[in-house]
Amino acid sequence: MTARFITFEGIDGAGKSTHIAAVAERLRRAGANVVSTREPGGTPLAERLRELVLHEPMDTLTECLLVFAARRDHLQQVIEPALARGDTVLCDRFTDATFAYQGGGGGADLQRLAQLEAWVQGTRGDVRQPDLTIWFDLPPALAAQRRAQARAADRFEQQDVDYFERVRAAYAARAAAAPQRFAPIDAALDRDAVWRQIDVALGARGW
Ligand code: TYD
Repeated sequence: MTARFITFEGIDGAGKSTHIAAVAERLRRAGANVVSTREPGGTPLAERLRELVLHEPMDTLTECLLVFAARRDHLQQVIEPALARGDTVLCDRFTDATFAYQGGGGGADLQRLAQLEAWVQGTRGDVRQPDLTIWFDLPPALAAQRRAQARAADRFEQQDVDYFERVRAAYAARAAAAPQRFAPIDAALDRDAVWRQIDVALGARGW
């Protein structure tokens, strides 16, 4: 089987969780071995780092170093072994989230983030990147409305609309820099219409 690495991105409240489960189901039905995971997290160590990043006050560079430390462990323990077996890895957020949240939202230096990315994701002279990134895009004001109906907010979810505008713009810049990797999804639409767009993005790749 062909290994595939698919990531899911977007500002908080974009509605990605239900769709990730549906993508897993669709690809399993087509015969894939699917590993569903998330960042920060995905290993016991990385889940402990997640708790710190989401709930302890810290400066942005510390956040960057912790999410990349978590990512290193996750890549080594889960993602790379799964891809080596030919599995399909679905990851709820990955490095684009660091560029969006720590970079766009928090103002972290993008060149430094790119250095960390190359260092942490380096494999045999190459830099590991997702094969496809499903990017749920919607206006931050609408996302905030949706979040208000959901559970208790973590440190990032408590930020204002201005912060999420910067996060969104940083996602847009990452998407513009890698248009073949990104599938932008209009997440302002209703659930069925969002799913149809995802279905088309997968179908376009013969998945
Ligand atoms: P999220 O993926 O939305 O999980 P949940 O649905 O359980 O809330 O939450 C993860 C948060 O972590 C989200 O607010 C974005 C943030 N985050 C970063 O700031 N940097 C990163 O590199 C990653 C992967 C996530």
